[in-house]
Amino acid sequence: MSVRQAALEHDIKQLLARELHDRVAQTLTSMLVELENFKASQVGRKSVLLEVDGLQDSTRGVLNELRALFYELRGEEGIGDSFVDKVRVLIARFHEKTSIEAHLSVQRGWPASLRPQTALNAYRIIEEALANVRMHSGANAVRVALKRYSFSHLAVQVKDDGRGLDTDESRPLGLGMVGMRERVVILGGELRIDSNGGHGTSVLAIFPKDLISSQDLLVPEVSA
Ligand SMILES: Nc1ncnc2c1ncn2[C@@H]1O[C@H](COP(=O)(O)OP(=O)(O)O)[C@@H](O)[C@H]1O
Ligand SMILES: [Mg+2]
Repeated sequence: MSVRQAALEHDIKQLLARELHDRVAQTLTSMLVELENFKASQVGRKSVLLEVDGLQDSTRGVLNELRALFYELRGEEGIGDSFVDKVRVLIARFHEKTSIEAHLSVQRGWPASLRPQTALNAYRIIEEALANVRMHSGANAVRVALKRYSFSHLAVQVKDDGRGLDTDESRPLGLGMVGMRERVVILGGELRIDSNGGHGTSVLAIFPKDLISSQDLLVPEVSA
């Protein structure tokens, strides 16, 4: 292949990846979130919920395939194999920029490798939670924990010792929170945000280790 041909092929692949992302992946992602909201309005209607679970499974499946295709088209590896290192670097940079004490703990049983989709979404959640610590918390210290939550689930937690969340219910959810929730929905998990009266904030994202069927997705109520 000539240099010109190779350059053209590279450009086409980039374009295709971008179009797939903007037109297809974004739409599938909003479908997933809309289905999740729909489920909240159908509590108690088991057959409807099962049906929607099935639709969500298929949608997640397609998103996974797409994600794999993006990496291929862009010739990227993804961060599935280097997740912990990437988080370590993120936290070190956070500390340099903010002077807020930042600590990472990796629990035993945290896997050496994650699916690219899981790794990227978990990374973005940590990034957003840290941005919030920086902007809103007034914290002295933050802890990021990568946990083995249960047999089938992992969790990432970002916990600060700052002023805690504004409890005014009338405040609309910010885009950051909405984005974090979207990302756990994509992974088939859930987001728990806790804040106890001026004693810091905890963002806990729980998600399945592997993509499994929704019937298995019920997260056990085990304390983290
Ligand atoms: N770690 C935190 N400590 C205190 N308040 C927080 C923290 N994280 C989020 N918040 C509050 O929640 C609001 C919504 O956050 P977010 O959805 O990320 O929107 P944004 O950061 O754009 O304001 C913030 O404006 C802030 O008031
Ligand atoms: Mg924010």
